[in-house]
Amino acid sequence: MTIYFIDGQFTKKDSLNISIDDRGYYFGDGVYEVVKVYDGELFTAEEHIERLFQSASKIKLAIPYSEQQLIDIAKELVKANDVKTGHVYMQVTRGASPRVHQFPELAVTPVVTGYAIHSPRPIKNIEGGVSVKTVEDVRWLRCDIKSLNLLANVLAKQEAHEADCTEAIFIRDGVVTEGSSSNAFGVKDGVVITHPATNLILNGITRRVVLELCKELGISVEERGFTHDEMNEMDEFFITSTTSEITPVVNIDGKAVGSGTPGDVTKKLQEAFARQIPLSVARD
Ligand SMILES: Cc1ncc(COP(=O)(O)O)c(C=O)c1O
Repeated sequence: MTIYFIDGQFTKKDSLNISIDDRGYYFGDGVYEVVKVYDGELFTAEEHIERLFQSASKIKLAIPYSEQQLIDIAKELVKANDVKTGHVYMQVTRGASPRVHQFPELAVTPVVTGYAIHSPRPIKNIEGGVSVKTVEDVRWLRCDIKSLNLLANVLAKQEAHEADCTEAIFIRDGVVTEGSSSNAFGVKDGVVITHPATNLILNGITRRVVLELCKELGISVEERGFTHDEMNEMDEFFITSTTSEITPVVNIDGKAVGSGTPGDVTKKLQEAFARQIPLSVARD
């Protein structure tokens, strides 16, 4: 049975006590992170926890733990749940208080919850590529915050799902921003192009790893908004996220990307990424 973290304690689901007045429940008033686990070890945990604190600070939420304490809690969850390949989910809400929109008058303690769960790497998608559907980006203007408010992302992903696509790619004012739960990259004439890390996207941890790998491999990068039309003319396309790693996109809105198979630059980046994770897992 899964062991969860809540209220400073590790506990089983049966004994979880979440208040109906939790502001996460009422308003999505909180932030979260997902950290990948390979071979029982957290991957880029410091970067994720640092971003959690940045997201919290941007919504004026004080996390009642230090970064190191949260990393230790994540490690404990991995151990308690005996997770080898999987992920840790952690969220922090502003706490429980009678429902008013503004922050509670009386100080309430933010609620930190988390769990670790087994989840295999999506090898089929990583190797074969996926189809995506473009949708209008109707989200707010603070997409840099990893907020629990994900309704626009949920609706976009559902739209993609109904079209037999794995991911929805957001288009704002004709420009490709990111996926509903991933960052988006095009490759044209050997150059990797991706939206800059502004308020219009989440600066993904995997995105940052990929940009580092491009540097190491001598692949040119342009961090700029590219248009929907440019997207349709890319030689290659791929998405990145903690759980989907580097996933090639082989079809956009029913039209093949390039040859319709994962491209060479994408594959080179995947190989470099696989070298960063434990060998036994990379060969899974
Ligand atoms: C909207 C959005 N963009 C990008 C990402 C990718 O971020 P990361 O690589 O840190 O998982 C995510 C991950 O869930 C996301 O939800």
